[in-house]
Amino acid sequence: MREIVGEMRKYLVCVTGASGAVYGIRVLRALAESGCEVHAIISRWGERVMVEETSRPFAAWVDTLGIARERVYDAEDLSAPPASGSFPLDGAVIVPCSMNSIGAMASGICGNLIHRAGLVCLKENHPLVLVPRECPFSLIDLKNMTTLALAGAVILSASPAFYHKPKTVDDLIDFIAGKILDRLGIEHGLFKRWE
Ligand SMILES: Cc1cc2nc3c(=O)[nH]c(=O)nc-3n(C[C@H](O)[C@H](O)[C@H](O)COP(=O)(O)O)c2cc1C
Repeated sequence: MREIVGEMRKYLVCVTGASGAVYGIRVLRALAESGCEVHAIISRWGERVMVEETSRPFAAWVDTLGIARERVYDAEDLSAPPASGSFPLDGAVIVPCSMNSIGAMASGICGNLIHRAGLVCLKENHPLVLVPRECPFSLIDLKNMTTLALAGAVILSASPAFYHKPKTVDDLIDFIAGKILDRLGIEHGLFKRWE
């Protein structure tokens, strides 16, 4: 965790082409509402799945969430700020995270800005939360996730619990978003905790 007195906490949210675009939107909304400085990247296939699942492009969501357009980076632009280890971050989350992006990062390959930003977080020891959504996982997926976990990433699968008695799909989404915020060290009231 950075310890810069008086500075707003700064997070990067990346959305890839796995199913579950709504998880990414919910995390972006929660971070923006908590007063953090939010930066975002969406992959080409993340954009495709976002439109498929929410009927809106990412840019439209960014506007409704109040995220500054200049803090949304082109996934193909490897010269954007998150590509550098000198870009200060309190943490990053890739949500949802495709097996393609997991595989690229586990191999150390920077196929786009999201992979580069994830690998930078690992080398700089910034908290990195990966939210895979695949079913079932192949042995290759499991090995890749193990590699990333050993390198310091948190693998937080998009598998909501039911002990908090969810009544709506939003309750299920909020549970995962809340678990992500827990890992980023941000207080929230997204779900009722087990007592
Ligand atoms: C509608 C749709 C749903 C998909 N869902 C998943 C998924 O749940 N998990 C996954 O790993 N890939 C999924 N894919 C495949 C990825 O989009 C594909 O592997 C792509 O190369 C990911 O690229 P990215 O990692 O750069 O976003 C889906 C693709 C489409 C079109």
